Amino acid sequence: MDVTSRRYLMCRPTYFAVDYAINAWMDPTAPVDTELAIAQWENLRRTYLDLGHTVETIEPVPGLPDMVFAANGATVVDGKAMAVQFRDPERADEAPAYRTWLERAGFEVHDPKHVNEGEGDVLVVGDLMLAGTGFRTAHAAHAELQEVFGRPVVTLQLVDPRFYHLDTALCVLDDRTVAYLPEAFSPGSRAVLRRLFPDAVLATLADAEVFGLNSVSDGRHVVLPVQATGLASALRERGYATIGVDLSELRKAGGGPKCCTLTVR
Ligand code: ARG
Repeated sequence: MDVTSRRYLMCRPTYFAVDYAINAWMDPTAPVDTELAIAQWENLRRTYLDLGHTVETIEPVPGLPDMVFAANGATVVDGKAMAVQFRDPERADEAPAYRTWLERAGFEVHDPKHVNEGEGDVLVVGDLMLAGTGFRTAHAAHAELQEVFGRPVVTLQLVDPRFYHLDTALCVLDDRTVAYLPEAFSPGSRAVLRRLFPDAVLATLADAEVFGLNSVSDGRHVVLPVQATGLASALRERGYATIGVDLSELRKAGGGPKCCTLTVR
């Protein structure tokens, strides 16, 4: 991907909380500082604006504490949008909110018949779409994506509950390159990744555990959690400019910079 100005959709964490546990990171008994989450999110938004990207926002809805994770709101490619269907009832009402935003923004919106958690599990690399399954998005959803977008969809099997969405285990750096945590994938999917991306950056567990792979690249600048120091230096060695952001509060819900960001293509 050439370095171009991106269009992102974000949702302010006004009602952010950890009220339920639907992934291995969430502990509803641990305290959450919503004000700090908002400040960290504002800093992420400012970082994108400073890089020259466009950031649009969707109105947060009270009672939907995970709505800040806009990546789960849809998959938008070539002006078409695949709406989402959440696995967990706690997040179900986010789907129509994002769907309405997309419709109002003029996208042709398609509705999934199977569990599909949007860009959390669907990543675009060049002409390909990589799609995760195992915890959230159903395997059957991958065929629906291929039909709607007319792009080859490569299924990747996630095996570690800590890396439950594809975007926690793999990051797209540009049109040809990705970074990923090999242990997060089944042996067959690891072989597929080696075949497709022989030059990939291989991340360590230490970097993945601080959501280092949940990063956002515009092809040249990579916005990633400031705690992922090993990955940041590996990326700099490859010629990427890295920008560290602290989203420690949102991590308590199992999310990082990429989860907060939906790319509108
Ligand atoms: N608490 C949210 C969930 O478990 C976090 C979503 C993170 N989003 C992502 N794109 N990985 O669904």
